[in-house]
Amino acid sequence: MRENPDYNDIYYQNTTTYSQMIDIVTERVVSLSELVVPIDWEAFFGNAHPVEIEVGFGKGRFLLEASRRHPQVNYIGIERARKYVELTRERFAKYIRHFGVDKASGTFSNVRLVWTEANYFLTRYVPVASVQAYHIYFPDPWPKKRQRKRRIFRNQDFLSALANTLKLDGGRLYIATDYKEYFSEIQERLSQVSALRPLGKNLGPDRDITTNFEMKYTLEGRKIYRAVYEKLAS
Ligand SMILES: C[S@@+](CC[C@H](N)C(=O)[O-])C[C@H]1O[C@@H](n2cnc3c(N)ncnc32)[C@H](O)[C@@H]1O
Repeated sequence: MRENPDYNDIYYQNTTTYSQMIDIVTERVVSLSELVVPIDWEAFFGNAHPVEIEVGFGKGRFLLEASRRHPQVNYIGIERARKYVELTRERFAKYIRHFGVDKASGTFSNVRLVWTEANYFLTRYVPVASVQAYHIYFPDPWPKKRQRKRRIFRNQDFLSALANTLKLDGGRLYIATDYKEYFSEIQERLSQVSALRPLGKNLGPDRDITTNFEMKYTLEGRKIYRAVYEKLAS
């Protein structure tokens, strides 16, 4: 894990000052700068349940359904666009107003929204070998040639952080995109990360939960490309 991030990096710009973590149920908002790094998940959530992280949750469809479905899993959603963090917060609030929360299972006490940049969060806040799964659905493809350098899978620190922070015993990375050329690039780049290996057709237990982009693109008849990677034990 990188010890001294370069805060001039495009991935860090405009994020460190505003970064916040939001508790859906208690509505408590804390600045990331108040947290002790790296985060001790067990102390933080008050349980030893596994932790899964969604990078770029957009309008939060996957995060809501997955965290509702799996109360025994803790979810961290990271999103750098404030408007999507607010939209997702409202999506959860609407759900709670409509359906209430199950006090026994503590609906949504297992989820936190983090308004920040993913690479910043992974390299600074997430402990080594502590994440059961990453979900990265429809990462921005930055199709214009001069913008491709912004692709998150081009960031070596991010790739290393994914590999370092996944658990050794079966940590998984789930990816989906509609963008064929970017999908090939992602596969090519991940093939150079020796700690990760592709898992063929094993697409995971929550394959049926659709994200907003997936719904949109599926309706348009676009093909969706998916991959799952597993962290190797050594
Ligand atoms: C194309 S949208 C996909 C949203 C959602 N995953 C879906 O499938 O509906 C990509 C999202 O990732 C967010 N994003 C892009 N780069 C990010 C980064 N480095 N850190 C956090 N969020 C990021 C964007 O703000 C946007 O909401």
